[in-house]
Amino acid sequence: MGSGIAQTAAVAGYQVTMMDVVPEQLALAKAAIAKSVDKLAAKGMLDEQQSVGIDQITYVENFENVPGADFVIEAATENPELKLKIYAELDSLARPEVILASNTSSISLTKIAAVTDRPDKMIGMHFFNPVPLMRLVEVIRGLATSDQTMDTTVELARKMGKEPVEANDSPGFISNRILCPMINEAIFTLQDGVGTVEAIDEVMKLGMNHPMGPLALCDLIGLDVVLFIMEVLQRDLGQDKYRPAPLLRKMVDAGYLGRKSGKGFYAY
Ligand code: CAA
Repeated sequence: MGSGIAQTAAVAGYQVTMMDVVPEQLALAKAAIAKSVDKLAAKGMLDEQQSVGIDQITYVENFENVPGADFVIEAATENPELKLKIYAELDSLARPEVILASNTSSISLTKIAAVTDRPDKMIGMHFFNPVPLMRLVEVIRGLATSDQTMDTTVELARKMGKEPVEANDSPGFISNRILCPMINEAIFTLQDGVGTVEAIDEVMKLGMNHPMGPLALCDLIGLDVVLFIMEVLQRDLGQDKYRPAPLLRKMVDAGYLGRKSGKGFYAY
């Protein structure tokens, strides 16, 4: 997600610093950005000026550029402890007027904001995979997010070529409150032997016009991410209708995480 966000901001003309603690991830991100931009340019979806925007991306392995940043978008792993640690650090390094936006797909914005001294400048900026192609940015208002922070973030999303839609801070927000239970139900349907992987995906593609089936989509998102979100929904909304399918848990335990691990419901 981070590379897609960096790419989208860079082609929109912003000067971007992309930070990752793992150097190999930065190399992978750089290659993925170049490949994606080549593809989009070949299809006429980007002009020359937009394409060269990615040459301005700086890749770093620490927070050295945070004090110079005008806007920060964090897209770290969905690990609450890690996020809270990152935000305490970002808050101490970023200038006081700077907005901190999280690409979290389910962690409470209000909780993250509470570890900072700028809860009014904390907001969710939830992008969708693959970021360069998906139009939506779900903009999440935490309990203390100010109107000014909301307006600035909505404007930034528009300038990045996206369609912002506002949601309130609640487990899964709008998108994952609806999407992940559907994917989870598809996994129950597979587990119960109602249909094969292919049959389940074909039904949703051909019968409901979904661009890809729920199991292929789960592979794209990551089975571990879907499991984590279902656990958040079950725990924080307190309803067993959100219980993760045992097959999902089993596959995650086996290391079948989807595209990123080479195996999920399909082999890659
Ligand atoms: N950059 C540039 N091009 C890309 C790309 C990227 N990052 N990713 C894919 N493409 C290209 C493909 O390579 C392909 O190019 P060619 O036609 O030249 O081969 C092209 O896009 C179209 O792909 P396909 O023909 O294979 O498939 P498609 O027409 O179905 O489009 C898709 C692909 C846009 C991913 C579409 O299937 C789709 O919209 N799927 C649903 C995605 C979705 O629901 N995403 C949200 C997930 S939820 C989430 O991200 C948030 C969360 O919190 C969990």
